[in-house]
Amino acid sequence: MDNRVLYERLGGVFAIAAVVDDFIDRVLSSPALNANPLVREAHHRVAPAGFKYLVTEQLCHAAGGPQRYTGRDMKTSHAELRISEDEWQAFLDLLKQSLDKFRVPLREQGEIFAIVQSTQTDIVV
Ligand code: HEM
Repeated sequence: MDNRVLYERLGGVFAIAAVVDDFIDRVLSSPALNANPLVREAHHRVAPAGFKYLVTEQLCHAAGGPQRYTGRDMKTSHAELRISEDEWQAFLDLLKQSLDKFRVPLREQGEIFAIVQSTQTDIVV
């Protein structure tokens, strides 16, 4: 059993940033998510690179890395977007596609999903 923190098991910031890069590209071009006009508008207002940077910081921090998350909290940043249950599910499906593409093992996938799921009540209306 590998006892290292999730951050180390994932391969640190370079590996995590690569997954986030792929995942955010999927999110930004997702017809299911862009069908929500508030999400589509906000997605085109923020620069993809900055969005990827903040999500990478956040995931690294949550996984036990040395990074500190400097963005807004999830409730504040998603409050105006009116994200539905179906949109949440579409988001999780895209995350699964990225994790599978990078061959992230199932144990680590489970821990990443637990981190993401912990934000659901702040994000879904
Ligand atoms: C269906 C699910 C989601 C959608 C459609 C979505 C969409 C968006 C959009 C459009 C923004 C830009 C808001 C703005 O600047 O006005 C944003 C910000 C952000 N989202 Fe999400 N999001 C979702 C879930 C998540 C999850 C699960 C996380 C992480 C656990 C996350 C992390 C972030 C971060 C870090 C920001 C930037 C916060 C800041 O501006 O400081 N999002 N999201």
